[in-house]
Amino acid sequence: MNARADVSGALVCRQDVYLQLLEGPADTVLETYARIRRDDRHTNPTILTSRAVSARLFGDWSMLHDPATSWMWSPEEIADGALERASATEAIAAFEALGAKVATSAPTCPR
Ligand SMILES: Cc1cc2nc3c(=O)[nH]c(=O)nc-3n(C[C@H](O)[C@H](O)[C@H](O)COP(=O)(O)O)c2cc1C
Repeated sequence: MNARADVSGALVCRQDVYLQLLEGPADTVLETYARIRRDDRHTNPTILTSRAVSARLFGDWSMLHDPATSWMWSPEEIADGALERASATEAIAAFEALGAKVATSAPTCPR
């Protein structure tokens, strides 16, 4: 679905946390988010930040999956509400770090 919509991104997912970055043309990113919202497997999806960018971080992936083994918040911090308190800047910084990490390694799941 994402490749067709020219959407790329990354999904960081662990038992206790889902954090997803969608990038692409504004209209198809919004449509993708609308589909995700409609899906009742999600509870309380929230947009942390939305902005125009000049380049993609995950242009080679329709959706990079990161199991968050090296995630910035521990399960204890997540349980304590770290994600709710996280600023947009922190979330972007986390994705930028992930983007830099994958840019220097061979793609495992190219689109
Ligand atoms: C964790 C998670 C991440 C998802 N990410 C995407 C995504 O990036 N793009 C997408 O099209 N659907 C994604 N989906 C699936 C959508 O929620 C939805 O089921 C799908 O787009 C079909 O929607 P529709 O039946 O309303 O057209 C995701 C689902 C889950 C559970």
